[in-house]
Amino acid sequence: MQGFNKGPILVTGASGGIGGTTVRHLVAAGATVIASGRNQDALDALAAETGCRTLPFDLTSEDSVKAALEGLDLYGVVNCGGFGGEIATPMETDIDVFDKVIAINARGALLVTKYASQSMIRLGKGGAIVNVSSQAGLVALKGHISYGASKAALDNITRVSAMELGPHNIRVNGVHPTVVMTPMSAWYWGRPEIEKPFLDTMPLGRWATEDEIAAPIVFLLSDAASMISGVALPIDGGFTAV
Ligand SMILES: NC(=O)c1ccc[n+]([C@@H]2O[C@H](COP(=O)([O-])OP(=O)(O)OC[C@H]3O[C@@H](n4cnc5c(N)ncnc54)[C@H](OP(=O)(O)O)[C@@H]3O)[C@@H](O)[C@H]2O)c1
Repeated sequence: MQGFNKGPILVTGASGGIGGTTVRHLVAAGATVIASGRNQDALDALAAETGCRTLPFDLTSEDSVKAALEGLDLYGVVNCGGFGGEIATPMETDIDVFDKVIAINARGALLVTKYASQSMIRLGKGGAIVNVSSQAGLVALKGHISYGASKAALDNITRVSAMELGPHNIRVNGVHPTVVMTPMSAWYWGRPEIEKPFLDTMPLGRWATEDEIAAPIVFLLSDAASMISGVALPIDGGFTAV
């Protein structure tokens, strides 16, 4: 794919399932990748496997994000770091969990966008940002009050960022995966009483793989998507379409 020779691409959440797979796909496509997360051991293992660079920082801390990103040359960003929080209704939610989910999934992605986009504008080569949202940001899912709210907030960060960064030739898009059986999701979605009714309503009727999320992310970062900005791309087997 074209477009991966213009500068490094930062992937947050790279110590996790979808982020790590995205790093592997980007390296295979010829990109220079900077992998971020907090777990240095996981990042080191990914670096040994792929040749990516590592840059650990904490998404909940503006000082940490700023220290890592200020002045760093970047062409692209994948905001993939995230936290599932709790399964709860609005009637029973633990508001401290809500605050933490928002702090990582929405506020953290905005902090990365803030400092990364400053560098991208300074370099003047344009760029691309992909925000990893969720099907939970597009529709109401049972038990997903905090997580769904955080991803819906991220979705508007995507749209406003696409508007504000477009004049700098920086594209900003969102992807909206259904469930991938990573540790973040398996404890809940793997329960038979949750899994079967959900998959029965999905046209493709199965969970996604990490590779099936990484490939569209790579496409949106590439020059093949050079006229695409501000979209919300479901990767959900048709779940939100029916
Ligand atoms: N799995 C799914 O079914 C699914 C579906 C739709 C959307 N998503 C979204 O896809 C993204 C990746 O999910 P995943 O399933 O790959 O999750 P995962 O394996 O649990 O990975 C989560 C990643 O986020 C990082 N992270 C969490 N809190 C952080 C913080 N405070 N500072 C820095 N990094 C932090 C983790 O880093 P450390 O472990 O190093 O702290 C890890 O790399 C998330 O945004 C998630 O909401 C997932």
